[in-house]
Amino acid sequence: MKILMVCLGNICRSPLAEGILSDKISKMNVTVDSAGTAGYHIGSKPDSRAIDIAKKNNIDISNLRARKFEFSDFINFDKIYVMDENNYVDIIGLAETKDQASKVVLITDVLDSESYVPDPYYGDLADFEKVFNLLDKICQKIANKIESR
Ligand code: 4NP
Repeated sequence: MKILMVCLGNICRSPLAEGILSDKISKMNVTVDSAGTAGYHIGSKPDSRAIDIAKKNNIDISNLRARKFEFSDFINFDKIYVMDENNYVDIIGLAETKDQASKVVLITDVLDSESYVPDPYYGDLADFEKVFNLLDKICQKIANKIESR
């Protein structure tokens, strides 16, 4: 099972989602990666505020480096979780087959309560904390689903 987390810049939300889900999954045959729909930050570490909030929760995401989503990700991953509606439209727009399109899921769909993961980039530490807590809740559900397969 290969899971890809996608946001806009791949420096705030999706590296957090990658770190949090990786931390929760014990099965050896599950891999988690992340990518951005935009290329602004290719090669960059996660935002320092994302690194800090993860570290506060005993998760190290400092070694991750941003990359842009590429077409081969549709082939290499089983599930592509996107953080918001813009990401969804961007990624679905690149799909060439129904099978590829069906891999793309808005990550908040695993909960009943939220409709997207808000972009914390122009926010403050409290926004990063909210995003962490939301992704933690979501990733726990995803992990439970995978572990029970
Ligand atoms: P992310 O946040 O999509 O959660 O990584 C952003 C990071 C950078 C930018 C926007 C959102 N940016 O415009 O550079």
